Amino acid sequence: MGRGFGNMAALVALTVLSVMRVGLVRGNSEGDALYTLRRSLSDPDNVLQSWDPNLVNPCTWFHITCNQDGRVTRVDLGSSNLSGHLVPELGKLEHLQYLELYKNNIQGTIPVELGNLKNLISLDLYNNNISGVIPPALGKLKSLVFLRLNDNQLTGPIPRELVGISTLKVVDVSNNNLCGTIPTTGPFEHIQLNNFENNPRLEGPELQGLASYDTNCS
Ligand SMILES: *[C@@H]1O[C@H](CO)[C@@H](O)[C@H](O)[C@H]1NC(C)=O
Ligand SMILES: *[C@@H]1O[C@H](CO)[C@@H](O)[C@H](O)[C@H]1NC(C)=O
Repeated sequence: MGRGFGNMAALVALTVLSVMRVGLVRGNSEGDALYTLRRSLSDPDNVLQSWDPNLVNPCTWFHITCNQDGRVTRVDLGSSNLSGHLVPELGKLEHLQYLELYKNNIQGTIPVELGNLKNLISLDLYNNNISGVIPPALGKLKSLVFLRLNDNQLTGPIPRELVGISTLKVVDVSNNNLCGTIPTTGPFEHIQLNNFENNPRLEGPELQGLASYDTNCS
């Protein structure tokens, strides 16, 4: 057992390790997550045609932007005539900053897993046909600046968890079916009341210390 064998063994071990590393990167869970979204959507205009799961990563797909490390930072699919549903797998895009799906005809609910997108700056789902509640888990989005959910079929209260997002600048939930009262603290101090309008069951701004905001609201 000479030194040469030791070196050779080390080299083999290193090679195996680096192949494994590439294997992990290639596994491309982000591509898989986006492909799951593609399969869940109906796409009559073929805007998702380039979303080929056999590529090394999704960074060359149309409507996808990646950072220098090959991680997805933007999904740009506004006004793309898409219908179908969102998928929980979107919550795996941990470097995502912009989720732009406005002006489509997407149905179903907002997956609670979107609350895992800790780098998200913009969640634009406005002008779709999305129902269900605004998940309280969105309160975990501590980088969020734009939350535009207007012109959907959303029900339930405006979750108070959103009050804790100090970066939030723009909130629009107008033209839904929300109920309860409008938060007035934290970032909500600066949101115009017309960004809450046309929610027939939504009461006015909450009055501190008075009735619970979600009475008769679910
Ligand atoms: C959207 O898709 C429908 C088919 O589902 C098609 O008839 C319509 O022309 C498309 N609209 C646009 C703006 O591409
Ligand atoms: C909106 O979604 C509901 C189901 O939640 C469906 O019945 C309705 O047809 C959809 N509206 C449009 C314009 O697609």
